[in-house]
Amino acid sequence: MRVFSLSLFLATLLAASLGLSYLSWQLVIGRTKIMRSKTAPNHKNYLYLKHYMLGHHSQYMKDSKAVAEKALRYAKSQKLAADGNDIWIFDIDDTLISHLPYFAKHGLGTEPMNVTLFIEWMNKSKAPALPASLNLYRELLSLGFKIVLLTGRPEEWKMSTVNNLKKVGYHSWEKIILKASSYPGNLSFQSYKSNERRKLVEINGYRIIGNVGDQWSDIRGSHRGSRTFKLPNPMYNIS
Ligand SMILES: *[C@@H]1O[C@H](CO)[C@@H](O)[C@H](O)[C@H]1NC(C)=O
Ligand SMILES: *[C@@H]1O[C@H](CO)[C@@H](O)[C@H](O)[C@H]1NC(C)=O
Ligand SMILES: *[C@@H]1O[C@H](CO)[C@@H](O)[C@H](O)[C@H]1NC(C)=O
Repeated sequence: MRVFSLSLFLATLLAASLGLSYLSWQLVIGRTKIMRSKTAPNHKNYLYLKHYMLGHHSQYMKDSKAVAEKALRYAKSQKLAADGNDIWIFDIDDTLISHLPYFAKHGLGTEPMNVTLFIEWMNKSKAPALPASLNLYRELLSLGFKIVLLTGRPEEWKMSTVNNLKKVGYHSWEKIILKASSYPGNLSFQSYKSNERRKLVEINGYRIIGNVGDQWSDIRGSHRGSRTFKLPNPMYNIS
């Protein structure tokens, strides 16, 4: 069962990476348009991405910060209910923690993804925090939000995931939800996440005030929350 769910996860990641051989500038600057083509990875795209993404003061970092600041302004405008059931959802990969150090060494998404290598990197629990998200996370905690982490990572990775999160400053949350092996392998990430959010609302009685992710599949579908916030990620695309 372990191998089964893991390999399905890999297949999904692989499929996602193969679909993305060309990235438009619109995507790079965080707009919605994704242009796909069958052409070979292009050096010019790589140069664009390198310029956009690398460095502590890159446009990618600025764009992430702008999203987080917008989310924080919204969060501050909310009056939390006395019952303590107001939650804020975060995705994990390339939302709370960043795989940019890995992708910086592997073409920033312009090369086909070596899933084996990528999994090895994730398993090392060495991904740094995305600074904008770490700041937002801390502010939300101090505002009294309960934080729920919802990831497409398989449940088997819980320990390495939690280790990584704690190492870089994410120390507390109401719940962390990883993808159970009981989910059918062909289920999309969007459907999986929608179903988990439905359970949070309908079974646990939470209200989802905000929801942040780097993938559209994090913030589309049902029970997505009162407000959603999309971080940039031109490196890969998971539906
Ligand atoms: C992917 O990385 C693994 C581990 O380093 C290596 O053995 C394998 O040959 C690589 N696959 C491709 C297609 O490059
Ligand atoms: C992750 O690393 C641990 C050792 O730290 C190893 O036992 C486990 O098999 C690895 N998992 C994957 C998916 O590579
Ligand atoms: C997924 O697989 C199940 C069987 O395992 C099948 O019944 C279902 O129709 C499939 N769904 C999609 C969307 O392919």
